[in-house]
Amino acid sequence: MISNDMASRMNAQVNMELCSAYFYLAFSSRAESGSLKGTSSWFMAKYFEEQAHAMKIYRYLKDQDADVELRSIAAPPTDDLTALQMLEATLAHERDVTAAINGLVDHALSEKDHASNVFLQWFVTEQIEEEATVSEILGRLRLFGDRPEGLLMLDKELGEMAATVAQAGAIDPTVLSA
Ligand SMILES: [Fe+2]
Ligand SMILES: [Fe+2]
Repeated sequence: MISNDMASRMNAQVNMELCSAYFYLAFSSRAESGSLKGTSSWFMAKYFEEQAHAMKIYRYLKDQDADVELRSIAAPPTDDLTALQMLEATLAHERDVTAAINGLVDHALSEKDHASNVFLQWFVTEQIEEEATVSEILGRLRLFGDRPEGLLMLDKELGEMAATVAQAGAIDPTVLSA
């Protein structure tokens, strides 16, 4: 059993993960419209990954006999962004998520809620990896500047990364662009 306060904060995180999923689905759609199929697949992989994060917290709440409270999911931004702008927005978003996870850990510690603290450590580690991956891609994208050859090379690489995730069974390959 966790406190009502902790449960409410965990529910807010379920919502944030689902908002993240929606955010990346919008980017996947935009990238595909811009003929960046690999980038589109990579964002689609992130869409599934964020849903899995939400479900991990959902399961924790149920296992702790706490109420799951499904809240409204905010619409993602509709601006017409370039690949560079989408990756920049992704890094900023992941940093916000990291701050939210850290806030949850702070709260768990303040309540001496060891179960939630241990549960959240997986997310702490996950955020380090997510930020590092996005930073690395963004760094290379900045190097290319506006050169289309560089963008296409990176697009191919992102497509291969998404295919690896699909092969591991984490996403449904039929929803990726052909
Ligand atoms: Fe997440
Ligand atoms: Fe994420």
